[in-house]
Amino acid sequence: MIKAESIENLKSIIDIVDVIGNYVQLKKQGSNYAALCPFHSEKTPSFVVSPSKQIFHCFGCGASGDAIKFIMDIEKLTYPEAIEKLANMYNFKLEYTSSNNFVHIDLLEKVNSFYISNLYKNKEALNYLKERGLFDSTIEKFQLGYAPGSFEQIQFFKNANLNNKDLIELGVLNESGEYPRLIERITFPIFSQSGKIIAFGGRTISNHPAKYINFTNTKIFNKSKTFYGLNFAREHILRSKKIIIVEGYMDVIMLHQAGIENATATLGTALTKEHLPILQKLKPNITVAYDSDTAGINAALKASKLLYKEYFEGGVVLFDEGEDPADAVKKNKNIQEIMNNKISFSDFIIEYTLKKYNLKNPVAKKDAIEEIKSYINTLPELLKEDFANKAARFLQISPQFLKVKTKNFSQNLNSNKKIDIAEASIIKTLYENPEIMNEIVEYLTPEMFKTHSYELSEIYKENFENPKLIEIVLRDDVKIHDLKTLKNQIRKILIPFYQEKITQIKLNEHVETNKKMHMLKMLNLKLLRLKKGELVESDSTF
Ligand code: GTP
Ligand code: MN
Repeated sequence: MIKAESIENLKSIIDIVDVIGNYVQLKKQGSNYAALCPFHSEKTPSFVVSPSKQIFHCFGCGASGDAIKFIMDIEKLTYPEAIEKLANMYNFKLEYTSSNNFVHIDLLEKVNSFYISNLYKNKEALNYLKERGLFDSTIEKFQLGYAPGSFEQIQFFKNANLNNKDLIELGVLNESGEYPRLIERITFPIFSQSGKIIAFGGRTISNHPAKYINFTNTKIFNKSKTFYGLNFAREHILRSKKIIIVEGYMDVIMLHQAGIENATATLGTALTKEHLPILQKLKPNITVAYDSDTAGINAALKASKLLYKEYFEGGVVLFDEGEDPADAVKKNKNIQEIMNNKISFSDFIIEYTLKKYNLKNPVAKKDAIEEIKSYINTLPELLKEDFANKAARFLQISPQFLKVKTKNFSQNLNSNKKIDIAEASIIKTLYENPEIMNEIVEYLTPEMFKTHSYELSEIYKENFENPKLIEIVLRDDVKIHDLKTLKNQIRKILIPFYQEKITQIKLNEHVETNKKMHMLKMLNLKLLRLKKGELVESDSTF
């Protein structure tokens, strides 16, 4: 039998659009995708896939379900077979078990109910939460509880017939089975994405030196893959396409209470590589909102480096010194405003990497440059240039000093490919400065290019990920122009283009003489203006 947790993990990385996209051609339609239904024959698409809901539905034949159901129906597989098929598609290693994990999950639910009932028996614990500003509804939503003394807990486990071995295996008891892991602490159940309890964290209310104790990893709980609160936040993240990542339980809880329900926390550990598949599936813009103390800022720097490298968009917000999101909510600060004021990952990395150097000192500056360079070295090719340019601006040096030569990368790409350097430079310039596209598009149309019309039309469509475009952008021999040079380069392409047009029209026997004269007059005028140094509109007469 496949482990329940393993299925949960698989579900958290599959995307219905990718899955169904392997079988039918999907067309974007608003926030959904449409296609011809694979389950009945039709001429107009009535089959819809919703990425936010992760379901498909056919308005024609009524077929519907999630990605697993789709695979079951289209491949005619049973549930576990479909799971295995999907696991193969995603190169995901399923874990199997002979025992049933639902029993375990049920056990943690029982322990949780016990902790919850103890919270309401313990005035001090309940008061603690109230004093921290939590509403009753919040305590209920997050199912906060209280783990009483060791003796009481052991007594309960016995009376409820909970198996000692299971209690150890799931982390409720310590390794030797003698003590509960959480004693006299507020309890925070940690949920899987689908809302099943997989572990607990506990906070002391009596100044115990370990402020928080979290369960160690168990067979159903992996700390470095879990976001606390994601079960509550998931819908909001998908809807807003934004996620807020904070450090602690209380930050998540207070933000949700303040109506900011796309907040989740990494559990005391920093953001790890193992968290990324979950983020990649949700594809949100990310706000890292860690505590504004040294540890928090260092963790934010680490997270930014990891996320930027993986092409995530977003940035870091900083609270007042020493403050964390929970404090800011408690102080009734305008959280939305703080969240909107984030420093992009690249700026944050540059600023906080360089902060520790005195850049007025040439020796320190050299070290700073070395540190930035070594980070650039770890970036994918596509990000290197952009990052180097930004860092160079910050350091007030030429980007040349930060250029990291890549092993014949461009040569490899360009072997046996025809390239027109003049056209390519225009493309690269527009790619790097998309904001000037508006100024250029009226003069230069794709058919004016001899070699790279396709790439020019792709850049006008802002398909910046097109590999043909990227090939050009990555070439070192293709330069980026300033606006004046760019316009001159365009003129140099327009002049022969219009000259050729003139020849074509002169030779064209199907155009009547009057019209011919008019067209030639217009074109010659254009040529004249071009030669004088102006650009001319590509009007539609031709
Ligand atoms: P309070 O607001 O004081 O309850 O704490 P916090 O939520 O601000 O926690 P803090 O910023 O101190 O730490 C963030 C997260 O790190 C917590 O939510 C815990 O998951 C974890 N953490 C904090 N202190 C400890 C500790 O002493 N031991 C362990 N294992 N984890 C801790
Ligand atoms: Mn904190």
